[in-house]
Amino acid sequence: MMKSILILNGPNLNLLGQREPETYGHTTLADVEAMCKSVAAGLGLQAECAQSNLEGELIEILHEAGRRVKEGELIGVVFNPGAYTHTSVALHDAIAGAEVPVVECHISNVHKREQFRHHSFISPVAIGVLAGFGVRGYELAIRALAAHAEDAG
Ligand code: DQA
Repeated sequence: MMKSILILNGPNLNLLGQREPETYGHTTLADVEAMCKSVAAGLGLQAECAQSNLEGELIEILHEAGRRVKEGELIGVVFNPGAYTHTSVALHDAIAGAEVPVVECHISNVHKREQFRHHSFISPVAIGVLAGFGVRGYELAIRALAAHAEDAG
């Protein structure tokens, strides 16, 4: 059975391509998702993609992902939590509670930007963090998660 990887995008990332292009570029979320599917396929994985602007829905998706990781069908989640990165104890707790392997991914280098973007509630419960490589970061995060899953066996 081919294992899956979930590409999960949080609030406002549905506007990718039109939203602040000087920061986030011109690539749309549909383009990113297509790129993720092809990168995953090259690694023998199936990429599933989801986006929500709702914190509670992201929590439900992470819980479900945790269940599927335990069943052995999903290896983990590449997660761009958008602005919830900097605000959400609930997403932190969802990742810890569901024991879901997460690579945190940001298009922009959040550390180069406003002070309020420097703190992440997600990083302490992530395997690792990628930021500042534009939408290419999703590809790097997929490769990092796949390598981590291989190491973990
Ligand atoms: C972001 C960075 C966040 O600070 C911001 O709120 C986003 C996108 C990024 O991908 O660079 O919505 O996660």
